[in-house]
Amino acid sequence: MARRRLIPALYNLLLDGLLPANFAVVGLGRKRMTDEEFRATLREGVLAHSRQSLVEDRWTAFAARLFYLAGENDDPKTYAALKARAEDIERQSGLPGNRIFYLSIPPSSFTAICEGLEQSGLATRATRPYARIIVEKPVGRDLASAQEINAVTGRVFDESQIFRIDHYLGKETVQNLMVVRFANSIFEPIWNHKYIDHVQITVSEAEGVGTRAAYYEESGALRDMVQNHMLQLLCLVAMEPPYSLDPDVVRNAKMEVLRCLRPITGKNVETYTVRAQYAAGMVCDKPVPGYRHEKGIKPDSTTETYVAVKCFVENWRWSGVPFYLRTGKAMPHRASEVAVQFRDIPQILFNANQNHPQPANVLALRIQPEEGLSLRIVSRVPGTREQTHPVEMEFRYGEVFGRPSPEAYERLLLDVMAGDASRFMRRDAVEASWAWITKILDGWQQQGARWLPEYAAGTSGPVEADRLIQQDGRSWRPL
Ligand code: BG6
Repeated sequence: MARRRLIPALYNLLLDGLLPANFAVVGLGRKRMTDEEFRATLREGVLAHSRQSLVEDRWTAFAARLFYLAGENDDPKTYAALKARAEDIERQSGLPGNRIFYLSIPPSSFTAICEGLEQSGLATRATRPYARIIVEKPVGRDLASAQEINAVTGRVFDESQIFRIDHYLGKETVQNLMVVRFANSIFEPIWNHKYIDHVQITVSEAEGVGTRAAYYEESGALRDMVQNHMLQLLCLVAMEPPYSLDPDVVRNAKMEVLRCLRPITGKNVETYTVRAQYAAGMVCDKPVPGYRHEKGIKPDSTTETYVAVKCFVENWRWSGVPFYLRTGKAMPHRASEVAVQFRDIPQILFNANQNHPQPANVLALRIQPEEGLSLRIVSRVPGTREQTHPVEMEFRYGEVFGRPSPEAYERLLLDVMAGDASRFMRRDAVEASWAWITKILDGWQQQGARWLPEYAAGTSGPVEADRLIQQDGRSWRPL
């Protein structure tokens, strides 16, 4: 996490002149390492993962502010040592003592760490200097464990100090969802069941499980992607207009959506969800083994690497409008989008031929890659014949703004420094989404599957998922 995401993010903030001039980072882990070794590892991380290239003199100045401390999570001495180290660095660098703790840890470590921070006096509720905590997923693996984590963090820190990260909320294109909806007059009047036929939310990834077998086996696609990222996308599409951009006003509006999600329980999981695993195949011309043959995966694993869900937001605006969600690993390529498909036009005039219905209008908001949006409309084909053809109106970030967007973690780390929680998950939202997800997990457990449907790696999902949407007379958008 530090190598791939956090340090590259901080380094880019520094290059862009957005990081406060005076700061220090202390890494804490089990492995014994000197500061120098820690810096060397992070340098590799920046070389491999940074948005902007490594500039030697900037890196050297940056790296001098990175420190490392080895310690066990459950040992009170770790926290006493961390406190002494932090105070020492702060004294030497003239830092005022504002501290942000970043927890990227398994759910089972929360109690020990929060208690360690509390007992050592590192966790304070003071506002000057402040203490804030960033909580990385997984925040639990079901409702009960999420509640436990929230209870222990909530006992030690005030909710205003806790920043539960969902990095999708820091993506430029995800932030743009609210702007598209609420900074334009043309969408909001038609953003409801009268005009919208259905919504498709897709997050397709080309990578397989990679090196994260231990985590992924316990998680699976529903917990890993739907509980957080995809439900957040759904909230942004479905929420009512908030009356201001105040963090809690926005988060209240999103919370309402989660409250309105129709639960999928018991036998209904068979009708409304599909889970599957990738089998051997080719992704981007490279052979990929089947999931059960990946390193670290049990040969009889029933962990899903693909999930499709059909769900409903039960309120006036969205009455009867299905939201189809799908996400999977080892798909043909990386493609995430929110596609809003409008209702068909009446079967007259240009749509009179029932054998060739006009394609519906679709507003596709591309989250990544090729960030942008497109609107499909039907146009006349030039010429003397009455012919029509669907065309796309396109907006691409790269073409219009000409510079790459900051990475999500850059934005989110700045937010925490500024104390702005708008793009973070509030406790009630985490629990509401886990409550909904846990019902599906329970339903799956009752199904007691000993095997899951398969899709060949490099294909866009199992036939069962096609049936899920086709039985409603609709189809998935091509990836
Ligand atoms: C993480 C998941 O939260 O998001 C990963 O744990 C997934 O499994 C990743 O690959 C996707 O993030 P991004 O930014 O690459 O879309």
